[in-house]
Amino acid sequence: MKKVITYGTFDLFHEGHYNILKRAKALGDYLIVGVTTDNFDLERGKLNTCDSLMDRIEAVRGTGLVDKVIIEEYRGQKIDDIKKYGVDIFAIGSDWTGKFDYLKEFCEVVYLPRTEGVSSTQLRASRPSVRIGVIGTGSIAGRFVDEAAFVSGAEIVAAYNPDAAEAGRFVAEKGIPKAAGSAEELLSAVDAVYIASPHGTHYTYSKAALEAGKHVLCETPFTLSLKEAKELVNLAKAKDLRLMVALKTAYCPAFGHLVTLLLSGEIGEIVEVNASVTTLTDEHSPKLDAAALGGSMNENACFPMLPIFKLLGTEYKDVSFYSKQRGGTDIFTKAVLRYDKAVASFQVGLGVKTEGNLVVSGTKGYAYVPAPWWKTDYFEIRYEDQNKNKKFFYPFAGEGLRYEIKDFVGAILSSEGTWPKISTEENLAMAKVQEDFLAGKNVYKI
Ligand code: CTP
Repeated sequence: MKKVITYGTFDLFHEGHYNILKRAKALGDYLIVGVTTDNFDLERGKLNTCDSLMDRIEAVRGTGLVDKVIIEEYRGQKIDDIKKYGVDIFAIGSDWTGKFDYLKEFCEVVYLPRTEGVSSTQLRASRPSVRIGVIGTGSIAGRFVDEAAFVSGAEIVAAYNPDAAEAGRFVAEKGIPKAAGSAEELLSAVDAVYIASPHGTHYTYSKAALEAGKHVLCETPFTLSLKEAKELVNLAKAKDLRLMVALKTAYCPAFGHLVTLLLSGEIGEIVEVNASVTTLTDEHSPKLDAAALGGSMNENACFPMLPIFKLLGTEYKDVSFYSKQRGGTDIFTKAVLRYDKAVASFQVGLGVKTEGNLVVSGTKGYAYVPAPWWKTDYFEIRYEDQNKNKKFFYPFAGEGLRYEIKDFVGAILSSEGTWPKISTEENLAMAKVQEDFLAGKNVYKI
């Protein structure tokens, strides 16, 4: 029996895909198709599949031409697959001519003619896109715009800053078509907004956008009070709009895997979570300006709260804060959350530096995620018996923002709806912790 293998992303399955599978099948008796995961494609710089991995697999299977579908997850896997399945022929489209000659050592390599005039890239370009307006034009907004260029379906059409000169500079630098003269003008020109304005304005802009029927992706901290957070969540629900928090860690594939692995009992019962995010910052920075609601908690607390709430839930018994203040803001805060059967703590700092890792301790072992754990690309699961330790590596594309942008756009365009990476409960619990801290509840100055 002659075995043939071929690979592809097979996004928005089209005639070219069908033809290549047919040609590949004709080369032998048994056809294996490797469908590439999103993560692996991100690593190759090929981005933005519109269809999920499962949908792409279904489409390949649905041709009836394929005897076995496998998932391609890592570089170098082709050699492993060829050996594992005893493959005789590796076939691929002629757009790859020469690129896979290195496989000739293992089997015959055939480049098949490509179908002219159709590609996933073309089909993606002709799909509807989400027109996004950016509110706030600081450095994170700049990074957002740069990363949005890698996400198909995301089109940045306007930006707004009450400081018109600043808005003008931003749109010119980033090549954005329009600097809106007012928030209303921006809202009238978009389907969705990304809010990256000063912390204290998130609520007002989010509310205005939702009331105008626009989807919202809001930077952290989402709001600084539980009441405001609840109001916005309910407004979005009533209007059937997406309201998402731009906490990039939640959208990292590696972080998602870490959470599911730990929740499935990999280190036994989870007894402690500790996470740190500190960035030494110039004392004149607005991040430390009390009037601008700066400070370590407002700036960074959402990041460590994410793994805590994901792993231990949002039903903590109480929270205390140990805080070092300067000029009316906290330059360092350690928070301790007591749970029935576990304890969590986190450190945030703009004027104090700590080791910025995430450690999750359990009854059978612990997870160690080195700094910067919030851009998760690597973690270890460690045990008493070091021989059992496991290391996990993941690709991490760009600044990490493109995962969240892709999720946001996907949630808007998908008719089936998508699974939120940060739940409403988690979002509200974060607002509650911020609120308690700002109200001075259980805050001990050190
Ligand atoms: N293919 C083909 N003819 C086309 C498009 C793709 O023969 N018009 C082949 C490719 O050569 C490859 C397989 O189909 O062997 C899977 O390709 P994939 O990269 O998934 O599809 P593309 O449409 O080329 O995707 P993109 O535009 O994202 O590169």
